[in-house]
Amino acid sequence: MIVLGIETSCDETALCLLETRQNGGDFEYKILANIVNSQIDLHREYGGVFPALAKREHIKNLPILYKQILTISAMREDNIDLIAVTQGPGLEPALWTGIVFAKELGEKLKVPAIPVNHMEGHIVSTLPHGSNPDFDLKKLKSLQFPSLALLISGGHTEIVRVEKIGQYKIIGRTMDDAVGEAFDKVARMLQLPYPGGPEVSKLAEQARKENLPKTISLPRPMINSKDSNFSFSGLKTAVLYTLKEIGNLSENQKIEICREFENAVTDVLISKTRSVMDDDEYKILIVGGGVIANTHIRLAFEALAKEYGIPLYLPPAGLTGDNALMIALAGALKPKTLETDFKADGNLSLDKAC
Ligand code: KG4
Ligand code: ZN
Repeated sequence: MIVLGIETSCDETALCLLETRQNGGDFEYKILANIVNSQIDLHREYGGVFPALAKREHIKNLPILYKQILTISAMREDNIDLIAVTQGPGLEPALWTGIVFAKELGEKLKVPAIPVNHMEGHIVSTLPHGSNPDFDLKKLKSLQFPSLALLISGGHTEIVRVEKIGQYKIIGRTMDDAVGEAFDKVARMLQLPYPGGPEVSKLAEQARKENLPKTISLPRPMINSKDSNFSFSGLKTAVLYTLKEIGNLSENQKIEICREFENAVTDVLISKTRSVMDDDEYKILIVGGGVIANTHIRLAFEALAKEYGIPLYLPPAGLTGDNALMIALAGALKPKTLETDFKADGNLSLDKAC
């Protein structure tokens, strides 16, 4: 089956063409073409994603990228069997651009255009093997159930019980800011460019390398609360107050704040995940979403999974951020009852994935 994946939930226009087949119990796939067109440079001057601009860019880029993936893959469009497109969550004007494009193409090619939950995409993005997902025939890692997924991105932070692919229960989520959002806001306070996550992380690493003594303490919000929810807005405000109190920030204080902020976020993520893992026996720990590009957080989860003696599934390099490969894969893995009458849903929940 040839599957086209389309992702336009935020500031990346992404398209992917996959060839998939079921070989006995194995799901096999080959990446024919995979393009991610980032609008980050355009949004940077606004200090975050500007929805009207994202919409305009997606509309402009979708037909161009579609032509490109057909050229790269040397595939005729009438070979496409299925179109999988992100339905939500995300910015609704941006989501609509992908959905309209998918539906019109589906009508033209007389193939189904089906909805995919973006967060399910981030779960599935952890299933490809190895560091070079662009090469050759691939199999997916097998999942065992229940698995536990922590999803940490720019818009979401949630702990999810995975009963099977397509069946999810949200156990906890952020009450305010998402982890990536908190990284981005702290970066802005420190006058670092958008997106701030990688910038804060780079400075935090520098502070660790220089072994700077600890002079600043930030809170670990909700670390001892009985539920599995998160809150990161208080942590962000604590950074703001610390900056006000310090006044003239030295370079060492700046990188120390980054380290302490990253440590605080990591402590909370690990502690919450640990207490969910203590409540039930999960077979696999999955961590997906853009923030898992963060080396410090990755290492902390590697240690946690090792301690519990279960496999840790992380997205390979190139699949941590938003991409259409994860959308095409999630679409290809869906049961064959295909829903084609759907609307963009900016708040789509994983509880509703099927
Ligand atoms: O999943 P993603 O690409 O887009 C959404 O669905 O939101 O996540 C983007 C988020 C941004 O907030 C970005 O700052 C954060 O992931 N991020 C990081 C790192 N790389 C990306 N946060 C911390 N450390 C990083 N290395
Ligand atoms: Zn995402």
